[in-house]
Amino acid sequence: MKLLSKEEIFPFLKNLFSQAQKSIKISSPWIKSEVFEKLLPQKNVNLEVILRDSEIEDLLITDIDVLSIIQQLKGKILLNPDVHSKFVIVDDKKAVVGSANITKSGLYQNRNIETAVFIEDEKEIQKLISQFESIKEKSVNLSENIVGIVLNSVSSITAEILLFQEIPQQTYLKIPVEDSGFLLGRVSVIKDINSSLFSTFLSTVERSFFSETEKLKIILTEKDPLYKKALTLSYLNEKGNSIKVGQLEILVYFNPEASNKESVLKTPMVPPPAGALVYSLKTEKEIQNIMKINHAGYPMGEPVLFGKLFNTNIDAYIDLEKIYSMHMAVLGTTGSGKTTFVRRVMENLKAKDVKIYIFDLYDEYKRSVSKCFKLTFPPLLFPVSFDNIKELFKQYGIFFQEKSSEERRVASYFRRNLKPDIEIIGFNKKSLEDMLIESISLTDLKGELREELLTFLDMLKKDYTEDALKKHPEVVEDIKRSFKSRENTVIYDFHRIEDPVTRVNIAGILMKEIFRISKSKEGKRVIVLEEAQNFAPEKGFGEIPSGSSNIAYVMARKIATEGRKFNLGLIAITQRPANISKYVLSQLNTQAVFKLINRNDLEAVSVFFEYSKEDIFNILPFLKPGNGFITGLAVPFGILTEIELG
Ligand SMILES: Nc1ncnc2c1ncn2[C@@H]1O[C@H](COP(=O)(O)OP(=O)(O)O)[C@@H](O)[C@H]1O
Ligand SMILES: [Mg+2]
Repeated sequence: MKLLSKEEIFPFLKNLFSQAQKSIKISSPWIKSEVFEKLLPQKNVNLEVILRDSEIEDLLITDIDVLSIIQQLKGKILLNPDVHSKFVIVDDKKAVVGSANITKSGLYQNRNIETAVFIEDEKEIQKLISQFESIKEKSVNLSENIVGIVLNSVSSITAEILLFQEIPQQTYLKIPVEDSGFLLGRVSVIKDINSSLFSTFLSTVERSFFSETEKLKIILTEKDPLYKKALTLSYLNEKGNSIKVGQLEILVYFNPEASNKESVLKTPMVPPPAGALVYSLKTEKEIQNIMKINHAGYPMGEPVLFGKLFNTNIDAYIDLEKIYSMHMAVLGTTGSGKTTFVRRVMENLKAKDVKIYIFDLYDEYKRSVSKCFKLTFPPLLFPVSFDNIKELFKQYGIFFQEKSSEERRVASYFRRNLKPDIEIIGFNKKSLEDMLIESISLTDLKGELREELLTFLDMLKKDYTEDALKKHPEVVEDIKRSFKSRENTVIYDFHRIEDPVTRVNIAGILMKEIFRISKSKEGKRVIVLEEAQNFAPEKGFGEIPSGSSNIAYVMARKIATEGRKFNLGLIAITQRPANISKYVLSQLNTQAVFKLINRNDLEAVSVFFEYSKEDIFNILPFLKPGNGFITGLAVPFGILTEIELG
């Protein structure tokens, strides 16, 4: 230990700092930049400075340049309202403890009498380091991402915050509470308030508002509009500062230290204290872990990465386990990012024990899966009932009444051969052409019907190509092979099929078989159904019926209600949420909602946005491609997300 006189302190400190190799720790309630500058070495050491902030005067003594000096040296600025200790530690080996602040009066003017000691003793240094650390723990780290403070809490789930910096609306923020817990919230609205005039809360913040009433009166009572304008502008120039106030919707209270059996989520019941600090989220580990819990607050069974939490670097996950048991809806206008979202999930799927069946309408999925069984259907006509055939007859002007005996023979032939079931449908052995020829042979020789059906056959060939009438046994064979495939992903590529009824029929048959397999064989399965409004429409929409004659509709309903019993999940994707069966939609327990414009579609999804998420509902029409809101059972809380396109 060595005692230092006032005159010795400054040169001693300067010399000590210049020897620093690794770190400089400073606790000095007040620092003046002009002294600080001369003292600090211009080199890269780990710099940490604790300053006092018990009142504004503290930070008028410690001037703004001090903060920039520390920032330039990439140091840490810590603020503590109670700190009065003055010491420095260099390289965790040498220290000076004393009475002087790093100010002129502390270090070189004659005014203050100061005393200090130099310490090298290892034990004493260790004690000092732990003192420094304990002050640090009770300090605010200015270098952290503090974005504001709680101005007032409206309730336990809504708070107004004063923002220190510009952030966009819909940013996720956190408020630490108690030891390790924190509230997670989303900024729903930001108001930019001119502090001189247009203020809702300023009466409490800026007292001068009252002393200015006279000026305000002059402005407000001025009759001449031009002069009034000039007066107002000059008044605003005199005082005009804008303040940003954000409304924070608190989503959940996280308690990361919850024991294994406890949920890490708590209902926020206590409003965050006014004055509490509000932090931005970066890639903090604690948040990252939370992104992998499900909405009940327990670890996700099978977290799958799909994008980032909006305006952060934080990865966002959905729980696949909650999807094969509880289904998901992916809703949004064309080009809003639905397919990209589902493809991202497919790409990041790590679980090997889930079988995915993708009903790919536009051949978009192949590049998202490295290994798969892909079945591209040829252009095809694939009726699965005599009703389908009658519909075709109608389209080609054949008036078929089943009155004559030849008509009845033809009808019963098709009824025997066409069944909505892959096992028993006649296409196992015969093509549609074969069937048409056989049915024609059942008509009366030289009769009118025979003529009509022959023309019908010709026309079909012309309109749909010959292949479209011939490939059935092959296609049925391929479908059966797809069920036996060992690949985890099976892609059914429908993009070459033009006829909407054929698409629905094949999809329905596939769903029926997948349902059957799920019932008889263990395993987890998911069906991805693009353009789901075409397969399971709400009544009265489009050309596809929504009754029992539409096997895809029947199966989609069945899977949505009963699938969970057999671990068979449905991901239904649609650009027209208003047109998809409301019954099916109501069974899809996770919802990914992207941009929507149509009023009916917005109306259809409004049920997923309870009161506090109204702000998000309101921005749905303005979302850009790849931005969406994921809510429901497979996510920890409603997640506004950004998904990378491409
Ligand atoms: N490979 C790609 N590269 C760049 N942009 C793409 C790519 N694929 C899709 N996009 C764009 O991303 C947006 C979302 O596409 P997509 O997910 O296919 O929308 P949706 O399925 O909702 O119709 C669209 O604007 C589309 O043009
Ligand atoms: Mg798409």
